[in-house]
Amino acid sequence: MRGLITICSFLIIGVLTAYYIGFGFGEKQEPKAVDKELEGLNEKYVLRFSHVVAENTPKGLAASMFAQLVREKTEGWVEVQVFPNASLYEAQGEFGGLMRNEVHIIAPAFSEVTVLDPKWLVLDLPYVFQDEQMIENAFNGKVGSLLFESVEEYGLHGIAYWDNSFKQFTNNVRPVTRPEDIEGLSVRVMPSEALIETYQVLGANPLLFPFNEVYDVLSAGIVDGTENTLSNIYSKGFYQQQKYLTLSNHNYLGYAVFMNKEFWDTLPTDYQNSIMEAMKEVTLWLREHTKSINEEMLERIEKSGQIEIHYQTEDEKNSWKQAFKPIYEKYSGVIGEELMKEIQRLQNNH
Ligand code: LMR
Repeated sequence: MRGLITICSFLIIGVLTAYYIGFGFGEKQEPKAVDKELEGLNEKYVLRFSHVVAENTPKGLAASMFAQLVREKTEGWVEVQVFPNASLYEAQGEFGGLMRNEVHIIAPAFSEVTVLDPKWLVLDLPYVFQDEQMIENAFNGKVGSLLFESVEEYGLHGIAYWDNSFKQFTNNVRPVTRPEDIEGLSVRVMPSEALIETYQVLGANPLLFPFNEVYDVLSAGIVDGTENTLSNIYSKGFYQQQKYLTLSNHNYLGYAVFMNKEFWDTLPTDYQNSIMEAMKEVTLWLREHTKSINEEMLERIEKSGQIEIHYQTEDEKNSWKQAFKPIYEKYSGVIGEELMKEIQRLQNNH
């Protein structure tokens, strides 16, 4: 009996010793040095980029160029797959898709971001920007940083501001030269309080429809008119469904490029650097070319002869500016003093 006890004791001690050594409980476990620089390298990443416009537009061209540059700069380890024309989501749906990591990059129009934070209404104020230089100063400065900060709480990581151009007005009812000509028209706008108010102030009836339903609602006569850049008016064929185009430049259309912050933080530093390098190059290219792209679209619209074009005079423009003054008064409060002061400074110095 004593022999059995001895054998069992030796067995228990042996098992405990093996267990103790095998799992290294004795020695202090130094955490393995995680080298963020290398972690994840040589793993292929596929980033899905969703947007709602046609490929032959400033945003469409920029997205394709970005995809190519990222592939080159990461030697194929990061692939950007672009989904244009709202093939995955409408503009508002993009935010949810990004948060669920179903897509990794989106570039909604500024007006779409106002739904998340009213500070973004500053970019929908009529005639807020006078020229391209002022736009660049805004987004490279305080306006750009304050606006990206305002949506960080939603997990949005702002990586660039992309340009399109100034918006024009089209409709099917009458030539529009002065603001009062818009009274009584139903007008499709993006879901921005400032845009809605802009048309309500003129006695019009603003209606919300997603971008890729605009052609249908125009051709069905559900709305009388809309506003957009020449690249969107041309690439989506709105000029074929509308009788009158007023070159008003009354609002600015640009895009905020976002990634999901949590996902962004998982990317190896090397790949983050390559993505930002590519994004910087594309943003610069877009700033230099978006004006000529829109001018090219105007030429094609003019040549088509399918729409009557009114080239707004300075006097008419001043009458529009005057009519839109209440919009500044109404929204400067929700936009906030800091942003309104910065916009005022840029407007005075341009
Ligand atoms: C729109 O009117 O909804 C479009 O301008 C959206 C866009 O991304 O250009």
